[in-house]
Amino acid sequence: NRPFTVAIDGPAAAGKGTISKQVADHFGFAHLDTGLLYRAVGARTLDGEDALTAAEALVPADLDREGLRTPQVAEAASRVAAMPAVRKALVAFQKGFARRPGGAVLDGRDIGTVICPDADAKLFVTASAEVRAARRHLELTGKGLAVTYDEVLADQLARDARDTGRADAPLTQAPDAMLIDTSDMTIEQAVARAIAEIESRM
Ligand code: C5P
Repeated sequence: NRPFTVAIDGPAAAGKGTISKQVADHFGFAHLDTGLLYRAVGARTLDGEDALTAAEALVPADLDREGLRTPQVAEAASRVAAMPAVRKALVAFQKGFARRPGGAVLDGRDIGTVICPDADAKLFVTASAEVRAARRHLELTGKGLAVTYDEVLADQLARDARDTGRADAPLTQAPDAMLIDTSDMTIEQAVARAIAEIESRM
């Protein structure tokens, strides 16, 4: 009787994070935002550390570090995420998390394809590039960052291209993942769809 695992993948600002958090709360599962692992490693490279050394030395407390949600760190994260050795160093932690006795939700880019190919429920959450950039722009300006919509869109397209185009664990929908396009959905609607899909797998 193994624990229940939910895999949620998709590009940046599609609503993955919010959906994952609410799904985890709903079912009482633990939640891991795996993007934070790459962001924590990326942040350390911005401090001058070697990416692989940083990945191998990563501890859970690093995920609570301030400043991981900035565009600069996102960019650094997607660079280190293209390094196979860095990805490999982060696999065991993620697989261990997925097997938590009370159930787990992991969100990222390669959860349903590489980290948890046997997940009990898989979702691929996406939205149009314009909708995602508008959401991220609102979020960043809300935090007081001086960025334009065009800058956010350009950064996002570059990051999407790198995440989708890399050789190792590229961003792609697993064949058995349910697609949720949140472009024309409220967050409540998207969460309800996700919960219904997961319940149908229980
Ligand atoms: O999800 P988030 O935007 O925080 O992820 C930051 C970067 O980390 C992504 O652009 C991607 O390059 C990388 N990532 C990854 N695999 C994951 C999660 C994130 O390659 N499972």
